[in-house]
Amino acid sequence: MADNINLKELITDNSYNEILRVEADKIRRKYYGNKVFVRGLIEISNICKNDCYYCGIRKSNKNVSRYRLTESEIYSCCENGYNLGMRTFVLQGGEDLYFSDIILCRIVNNIKNKYPDCAVTLSMGERSYQSYKNLKSAGADRYLLRHETADICHYRKLHPMDMSLENRKRCLYNLKSLGYQTGAGFMVGSPYQTVDNIVSDFQFLRELDPEMIGIGVFIPHHYTPFRNYPHGDIELNLKLLSIARIMFPEALIPATTALGTVSPDGRERGIKAGCNVVMPNLSPLKFRKSYELYDNKICTGEESAQCIECLKKRVESVGYVLDMGRGDYIGKE
Ligand code: 5AD
Ligand code: FES
Repeated sequence: MADNINLKELITDNSYNEILRVEADKIRRKYYGNKVFVRGLIEISNICKNDCYYCGIRKSNKNVSRYRLTESEIYSCCENGYNLGMRTFVLQGGEDLYFSDIILCRIVNNIKNKYPDCAVTLSMGERSYQSYKNLKSAGADRYLLRHETADICHYRKLHPMDMSLENRKRCLYNLKSLGYQTGAGFMVGSPYQTVDNIVSDFQFLRELDPEMIGIGVFIPHHYTPFRNYPHGDIELNLKLLSIARIMFPEALIPATTALGTVSPDGRERGIKAGCNVVMPNLSPLKFRKSYELYDNKICTGEESAQCIECLKKRVESVGYVLDMGRGDYIGKE
């Protein structure tokens, strides 16, 4: 309990911000040096059966033009990324029922066969234990599934009744037990979030002990019920990233696109605060604007090669280096 009071104090009192940042940076340098790992993000479908109130591609949003990449489009994205030097591909999408185990396993398998030196990360939402198991056998290495909020009351304010925090957590424990490098995380400043909720988020993370942690500001999307809520506080986002780095020294933590969207130097500041991953977009240009989880998402008009160049400059401008390798979790000491 004493622990939590301290954490709450750290979160609320802004005089700790810089101390936390310096400490976080020291720790990431000790564990990962000045490396920032690259993950090529392929947004394979914006079709989703869920209706999360915050999300721009929720099923009730009838204004989105829906798309699903064909298998050959997915492979072209990988080829493009591979030629640019990337060695991790993240296949992300809404919960699109088209992607049965048979289809998704075939895709993962084909990518792993063609690029045995690459890691494949999936970010395709909640699936059954058996499904995660099949995908692992097909070659998937990692899985991203943010828990979004660890507080059950807060969870209900962000999601309709047919979703549950219990299932979300179960999925995450299943992924861990199957040997995935597992990513969890939450939004900063989502509607109704309290400081106590954030404390619960860290408590849950401590329990789960994920290899990857995504923490990014909430940004409203104009066609969602949360259209009139303000975006999350970037300073708080940065501080929570530093706390995550200090609590999980070996974790892979991305400087999110959301950070870059709310502030032009958001990602650079994220890196200085302890982040060690960036995720340039490999999706075909013509679909980028349709994968709009929130308003004004950046990098929807750039070729992937340009994205890499831009990220390289940004990362180097704050004294770090881009690392194109697989960038696996280094394990505990
Ligand atoms: N603002 C910021 N992040 C969002 N996400 C979804 N909608 C938003 C939004 N409006 C995040 C969720 C999800 C990840 C892929 O994107 O945390 O897990
Ligand atoms: Fe995509 Fe800069 S990271 S244009």
